[in-house]
Amino acid sequence: MGSVRIATPLPGPRSAALLVERRRWVSAGVSEARHGIFFARGLGALLEDVDGNVFLDFAGGIGCMNAGHSAPRVIERARAQLERLQHSCFMVAPYEPYVELAAKLCAITPGRHPKKAALFTSGAEAVENAVKIARRATGRPAVLAFDPGFHGRTLLALTLTSKTTPYRDGFGPFAPEVYRFPIPDVLRRPHALSAEECVQRGIADLHRFLKSNVNPAAIACAIIEPVMGEGGFIVPPAAFLHELQRLCREHGILLVADEVQSGLARTGAMFACEHTGLEPDLVTLAKSLSNGLPLGAVVGRADIMDAVQPGGLGGTFGGNPVACAAALGAIETIETEGLVARARAIGETAGRRFEAFQARFEFVGDARGVGAMRALEFVRDRRSLEPDKARTERIVDLAIRRGLLVLTAGLHGNVIRTLMPLGIRDAELGEGLDILESCLADA
Ligand SMILES: Cc1ncc(COP(=O)(O)O)c(C=O)c1O
Repeated sequence: MGSVRIATPLPGPRSAALLVERRRWVSAGVSEARHGIFFARGLGALLEDVDGNVFLDFAGGIGCMNAGHSAPRVIERARAQLERLQHSCFMVAPYEPYVELAAKLCAITPGRHPKKAALFTSGAEAVENAVKIARRATGRPAVLAFDPGFHGRTLLALTLTSKTTPYRDGFGPFAPEVYRFPIPDVLRRPHALSAEECVQRGIADLHRFLKSNVNPAAIACAIIEPVMGEGGFIVPPAAFLHELQRLCREHGILLVADEVQSGLARTGAMFACEHTGLEPDLVTLAKSLSNGLPLGAVVGRADIMDAVQPGGLGGTFGGNPVACAAALGAIETIETEGLVARARAIGETAGRRFEAFQARFEFVGDARGVGAMRALEFVRDRRSLEPDKARTERIVDLAIRRGLLVLTAGLHGNVIRTLMPLGIRDAELGEGLDILESCLADA
């Protein structure tokens, strides 16, 4: 017997009642989940709604639950910390879990250089602070970012972010001195070009951009996601990343890897940078860092992290002790339960199935990803590769009715991505992939 259990119409009666209240009291600017279902409980890779229906979770709270719902080590550490000290503000009355977590993050992030860390409350805040640190350390104003990247919704992070609707519309003017460059689009390259030629053309265009748009001597940092999350799980070509790193070193530009979504075991390495040997100066983390509690981090070269004047970094809630304790429990779970290897195994299983979907269904334009960070891109046909958002939404709607929660991504909203908890059992993974295939067949 499978783990999915749907016993009411969806949304069920309690969810339907909550939806009415939600529409009455919550701002319309906070997007409403299309399914209208409210959830009450999570365990491992399963979510139970307020009407007792059980779903498989391939969304993981947008990539926050790598260690799994209700991970025992996270709960134990967070509960013990909650009972001892909830908050005192690290800058005013410091506590041990902040220091313990900073040391741990310095040990596990890429690069053997001496490192230091600073803790915040979200991914966007980590990104904003990475830019502040880079500007202070270099004395330069400009920031280079890449389309179709996503770095958050606060003003500077939003300026770095690519998608107009819904993220950017109406929120300008944006922060100055941000330059965005498109990564080579290998999937939709001109027919005359090979993949390698397309990447080389992208590299040449980047050189030109640094002549025409912004002098590299004015750039404090370049920020890039080693696997682009909201952009549609697009993997920037390794040659492009290597050239970016080389340019950064040549011109004294700091390289920031935004591992908010790709970090903490998701891609089958502790950090996605490891797949290409990228050694960033700064790394930004959040999401699965604390298994969903509000926490963000910047970790990087000690001399750069120390370039900021005391008091220049921080925030009332940054590095809250309960969130730090949860993060220590999440990292312990990843390490002791072998979730890096597990992400690789999930990636192999899901990757094989996704390739089979691509062979079976003409409307699957691409199956891609790294480790358990896998995606299917839906198109009208393989020749035009015209994005098919409507079919993508039909698949997502069918999937939830059959008990599978999945997330879309991509500039055109035509990508389905997998961010399931990494402790998902083989049987659950198979069940979820079977449901997805049945939805592809019927949508
Ligand atoms: C790569 C990346 N950076 C930054 C952010 C922003 O994180 P938060 O939503 O915690 O502010 C996200 C969120 O999806 C992300 O995927």
